[in-house]
Amino acid sequence: MIEIRAEHCHHVPARERLLDACFPGNRRAKTSERLREGRLPARGLAFAATRAGRLVGTLRLWHVEAGLGRPALLLGPLAVDPAIQGQGLGSVMMQAALGRAESLGHGAVLLVGDAPYYARFGFDRALAEGLTLPGPFERDRFLGLELRPGALAGAEGLVRASGALSPVDAVANEVGVARRRAA
Ligand SMILES: CC(C)(COP(=O)(O)OP(=O)(O)OC[C@H]1O[C@@H](n2cnc3c(N)ncnc32)[C@H](O)[C@@H]1OP(=O)(O)O)[C@@H](O)C(=O)NCCC(=O)NCCS
Repeated sequence: MIEIRAEHCHHVPARERLLDACFPGNRRAKTSERLREGRLPARGLAFAATRAGRLVGTLRLWHVEAGLGRPALLLGPLAVDPAIQGQGLGSVMMQAALGRAESLGHGAVLLVGDAPYYARFGFDRALAEGLTLPGPFERDRFLGLELRPGALAGAEGLVRASGALSPVDAVANEVGVARRRAA
């Protein structure tokens, strides 16, 4: 039986191994990573799928601003253990995550990914048409979904990270500020 639950820090090493297996190459070079690095995922929106205690799926969503002052979530990365891909877990995780995001009051979700996969959940490139990302990206893979009708209407401009800094980065930031003040 597979359980989908909130990600816990003890899942992190297995999550990173799963992401390395599913995204060969330098996954950290992706532009979407610029919106995630140093940030915490949105509260209640980091998921771990486990089977017999072993991590078999991961999905997280992140706070961003979709143009000035327009809150949205960035979805990803989504990955399923290659041994059980094609058996429905990715879809179940997507439905669970989008349902949770909606129930938490979020209005819009953006992602960069394979349109033929994400279209089945309602993602559409037209909803992200006016937006850009802080780095190179393929327009055909930059997609949006409205959880609340109109949440992305007229959205334009740069997507920026807006999530809370992760504690490790917040400490590094404080040290940097203190050093600059002392210099
Ligand atoms: C993409 C991924 C998360 C899907 O999870 P999954 O559990 O294998 O998917 P599901 O079983 O829910 O859905 C399977 C369906 O999605 C399709 N599908 C899977 N990956 C796809 C892709 N990259 N593009 C288009 N369709 C895809 C399958 O052909 C299948 O179609 P069908 O329902 O018509 O038979 C998983 O395959 C994975 O981790 N892939 C590697 C990492 C990755 O590519 N992540 C995100 C995509 S940007």
